[in-house]
Amino acid sequence: MKSMIGTSLPRLDAVAKVTGAACYPADLVQPGMLHLQIVFARRPHARILSIDTREALRQPRVVAILTAEDVPSNAFGLIEEDQPVLCRDVVRFEGDKVALVVAETKAAALAGAQHVHVEYEDLPIISCPRAALVAPAPLVHEERGSNLLFHMPLRRGDCTQGFGEAEVILEENFTTSWQEHAYLQPEAGIAYLDEEGRVVIETAGQWLHEDRRQIARILQVSEEQIILRYATIGGAFGGREDLSIQPLLALATWKLQRSTALVWSREESILGHHKRHTISIHCRWGARKDGRITAVEAESLADGGAYASTSPEVLKVATLFATGCYEVPNVSVDGYVVYTNNIPAGAFRGFGAPQAQFASEVMVTRLAHALEIDPIEMRRRNIYREGSIEPTQHPLPPGVSALPVLERCAAEAYESFDYGKPRPGKEPHLRRGLGIACGMKNLGYSFGYPEQSTATVELLREAGKVRAIVRTGAADVGQGAHLILRQIAAEVLTLPLEHITLLADNSYETPNAGSASASRLTLMAGRAVRDAALAALHKLRATVADAVQATAQYRPPATTSLHPKTGSGVPNYCYGYAAQAIEVEVNILTGQVKVLRVVSVHDVGRALNPQQVEGQIEGGLAQALGYALLEHFQVRNGRVLTPNLSTYLLPTVLDMPVEITPIVLEYADVNGPFGSRGVAELPLVPFLPALVSAIHDAVGVWITQQPVTPEVMLRALRSNAGASISGKHPKR
Ligand code: MOS
Repeated sequence: MKSMIGTSLPRLDAVAKVTGAACYPADLVQPGMLHLQIVFARRPHARILSIDTREALRQPRVVAILTAEDVPSNAFGLIEEDQPVLCRDVVRFEGDKVALVVAETKAAALAGAQHVHVEYEDLPIISCPRAALVAPAPLVHEERGSNLLFHMPLRRGDCTQGFGEAEVILEENFTTSWQEHAYLQPEAGIAYLDEEGRVVIETAGQWLHEDRRQIARILQVSEEQIILRYATIGGAFGGREDLSIQPLLALATWKLQRSTALVWSREESILGHHKRHTISIHCRWGARKDGRITAVEAESLADGGAYASTSPEVLKVATLFATGCYEVPNVSVDGYVVYTNNIPAGAFRGFGAPQAQFASEVMVTRLAHALEIDPIEMRRRNIYREGSIEPTQHPLPPGVSALPVLERCAAEAYESFDYGKPRPGKEPHLRRGLGIACGMKNLGYSFGYPEQSTATVELLREAGKVRAIVRTGAADVGQGAHLILRQIAAEVLTLPLEHITLLADNSYETPNAGSASASRLTLMAGRAVRDAALAALHKLRATVADAVQATAQYRPPATTSLHPKTGSGVPNYCYGYAAQAIEVEVNILTGQVKVLRVVSVHDVGRALNPQQVEGQIEGGLAQALGYALLEHFQVRNGRVLTPNLSTYLLPTVLDMPVEITPIVLEYADVNGPFGSRGVAELPLVPFLPALVSAIHDAVGVWITQQPVTPEVMLRALRSNAGASISGKHPKR
């Protein structure tokens, strides 16, 4: 039989998705269900004086109105339980939820919501993260006594000595804006009671078992009382890590013992779920004449918004990657994330790495220019190698492929881009440039967070044939995880794909695989499926019974929490490495930047399904291009100014470069199934700094903010602000 591994088997869900037959959460709504409408605060900071639901309850077809009084345990969160399901005393951002209207139709629920009268006393707003740290700033969570959510220090070596050895020292400020996940399918779902009175919530998410845990806590029932099911999921990107609509569906069904439905509009989705963090980074980099980086000092300040979400973890990743993928002997970094009355920030593809490595990659290129060293050569002299020490003072996990990834990208850039040659545009106002950047990102959970994935494989002999049922609660958020898991099982069991049944969408019938996040499912859930399949196969060979079953729980090498004063410890068990070369054309009259070509090189360990790997790279590049050039999520004084896709610009196919070259390298990972690591988040990491370096190559100015809108570009060209700080062009 032909190997399943390394084969671009077609996606089994593709036809249904293209024809519209696939059942997304909003498609589950049935006649007779009660409809929910949330009353949002729509103000950034206020005390709730009273909630009057009497008039709303008199509206036709309104069945009930739930408020904070109805929530058994009114606090939730992935890491800190600081977010109310329904606010009782205070609202802390525009998207806070105050009441839930339950009605027989969606129109009646909407009308009812208009008649819920909430009396507020507006409170002072804190929307600037820097001001949030200075007393007497208004406090977002009064009982905490401070707006500081988390501080992470990172210390290695001696920076005074390191800067003393430096030939060149450069200093800069970088700023990034929020990013909206903008998945195709806004939040939606249904809830109902099964025959045994359990609450079943059918929706989309990234982790069945964690959603179940949090909902059970909110309702104060045992986890057995709650069943989470995922319908077809229309994208996630980290935006479905936090609970959104799920607790409200569960609460209404639990209270009223009726089936309920809740479908968010795009505006509700944009207001209702967290965003990528804005991070401002002030950094100082020093390097010797020979190109060796001697010291990095940095301070990062992230806006966590009104609730913690995953902010402390994102901040740790952003702090860890302040030095990018380079070994630096002397490091002093302080990361801070603060509460504000802005929209909460949390997980988004890359989880802090894109912001941090925007700064680090641009600084490495600028040091190279200042030292008149080729930026690729500069990288070679500093990049992580096997055994390199992280700023957390321990060696990297084995499988450090940063250098071969860079070399492949460089070779591609030299060959197909004529790297280092002048590149005139077609017309004098069109200037072309080429930029290159590297990127790394952990795969899997970090900093001692419990990491495991469990799978069960059942083998059945039926009429001389073997059939397998694989159970593991791994979410296919659109990335194709379910096909990968079936391919792995089929390969181990030497069965055709059709003989593998995968059960993965129901918390009741599957073991916990962990989340579809941190680019981890192929490595983690894939490894658990492989191990369980192998164990089941051994059992089958040893028996004449018609059915055997085996369970495997995979735990990777342990990570540790980081020392609270120095940040020392073992942050991660696996990293992925990437490098990109980008050619741009800058229109100096309009400030528009067009991406002409992208080479994106990735070490994925082993491409189990090459077409899916390339799909991830291309999709990631589209999201990266949107982040770098177009997507300008704006918040002023706690108000979201871009709550619609008409004001928040996403890239279309016309914005994408004509030439995209995904290059997949396969340096086997020691733990991953068949050597595979993962890829999902990595295309987003090097893109922005590669683009900004390409812009500098084209027009000689350094951009230090994201997104690079035409306005930003024109301002930089006019003031030539970059000229004073930019180094010389690379030696050619
Ligand atoms: Mo992700 S940003 O690890 O869902």
